[in-house]
Amino acid sequence: MSPNRIRSGRTRRTVIAGIGAAAGLGFLDRPALAGREAGLASHAARTGRVFGTAVRSPDLTWNATVRNEVVREADLLVPEYEMKWDILGKSPGTYDFTGGDRLAAFAEQHRMGLRGHTLVWHLALPSWLPARLEADEAKRVLETHVAAVAAHYAGRVQSWDVVNEAVDPHGVDGFRDSLWRRALGTDYIPLAFAAAAKADPKARLYYNDYDLECDTPEQDLRRAKTLDILTRLRREGVPVHGLGIQAHLQAGRWPYDAGKFARFLKAVAALDLDILITEMDVSDRLLPAPEAERDAAVAALAGEVLATFLAEPRAAGVVTWGLSDRQTWLNDLPTHRRTDGLPQRALPLDRDGGRKPLWNAMARAFDAAAPQR
Ligand code: G3I
Repeated sequence: MSPNRIRSGRTRRTVIAGIGAAAGLGFLDRPALAGREAGLASHAARTGRVFGTAVRSPDLTWNATVRNEVVREADLLVPEYEMKWDILGKSPGTYDFTGGDRLAAFAEQHRMGLRGHTLVWHLALPSWLPARLEADEAKRVLETHVAAVAAHYAGRVQSWDVVNEAVDPHGVDGFRDSLWRRALGTDYIPLAFAAAAKADPKARLYYNDYDLECDTPEQDLRRAKTLDILTRLRREGVPVHGLGIQAHLQAGRWPYDAGKFARFLKAVAALDLDILITEMDVSDRLLPAPEAERDAAVAALAGEVLATFLAEPRAAGVVTWGLSDRQTWLNDLPTHRRTDGLPQRALPLDRDGGRKPLWNAMARAFDAAAPQR
C-alpha cells in the first residue's frame, strides 16, 4: 500500500480534509502529515481525527524547542489565553489581536488548524466589564465582543469555544451563577452562538465544559445539564455544532466508568454534534512522588478515557492543554500544584521534550480508534 494510503483506504489528504469537517477546520488543505515525524497528529489522522495543543505565542516565537515539538506532534493549535477577553479588550471598544494574530500566522505558516478559545466565559474578563453589564448594555456588550472577535478571525479560526463553563450543578437550574447569567439570564448562551454564527458563518461553534468524564454524582449532574443545554440549543435551532470536553483528568481521584462516559458521548452524538476533547491533561497531584509510578497512573487513566472517547464515531479529536511538562497551568495555582512542590507530569512530553508513557498511551488509543464519521 502506498505511503499515502492508510488503513481505511482513503488517501492521507482525504483523511486530513476529513479532519477539517469534523474538528471544524473547514476545507483547509491540511498538511501532508507523511512528511512529518510520526507525531500524535499522524496517529490521530489514521482514523480521520485531529490532535492539537494549547500554545502561547511568546513560546512559539522565542523558543525553538517548543516550536519544533508543536510542529512535530500537532496539527491544530488553540491559544491558552491570547484570545480571551482580558487580553483582547483591555479597554472598552478597543481590541489588541496581536497575540492571536501571531498564533494564526504560525498555524497558517505550518498549515495547521486553529481553534478560538473562548468568546464568552465568566473568567479572564477585563476589569472594566462588570460595571458595563447593566441589563440594557449587557446584550450589546456581549454581542459586540463576539461579533468583533469572530469576524476578525473569520477564515483563520475554524472552530470556536463560544460559551465556556456555563454549568454548575449547585447553581439555579444547574447553571453557573455568572455575571452573564445575572445580566441576561440563560439567554446569554444562544445570544453568544447567534452572534458568532452571524460574524463567521463558516466556523464550527462549540459549547465547552469540564468534569464530564468520570463517575461521580457531581459529574452525573454535569453531564445531564450539559446534555440539557445542548438539546435545547438544537431544538431551538441555535447554531451549535459541537461539544468540547475539557478532560482535565486527575489520576487517583475519581472512579471512571467507561459505559457511563460512552452513553453520554452517544447521547451527544445523537444530537448531530461533533465532540472534541479540548484541554486534556492528567493531574498527578494526588499520587506518590516516584516519577515512574506517576507516569504509569497518568497514562493508564488517559488510555481508558481515550479508548472510550475514540470509540465514538463523532469524536473529532483530542487537544491537550500544553505538550510538555515544562509548561502547565497545573503548577501555577496552589489549588492544583502538588503539595510536595514537585512539578506535575501531566502532559505527553517530559520537561526535556521526551515522549512519556502518556504519549504512548495516546498514540495507542488513536491507532485503535473507531473510524471517525
Ligand atoms: O496576561 C499576561 C500577558 O499580558 C503576558 O504577556 C503573558 C506572558 O507571560 O502572561 C499573561 O499572564 C497570564 C497567562 O495565563 C500566562 O501565564 C494571564 O494573566 C493568566 O490569566 C493566564 O491564565 C490562563 C487562565 O486560563 C485564564 O485565562 C492559563 O494560562 C490557562 O491555562 C487557563 O486555561 C483555562 C481554560 O481557558 C478554560 N478551562 C480551564 C483552563 C485552566 O484553568
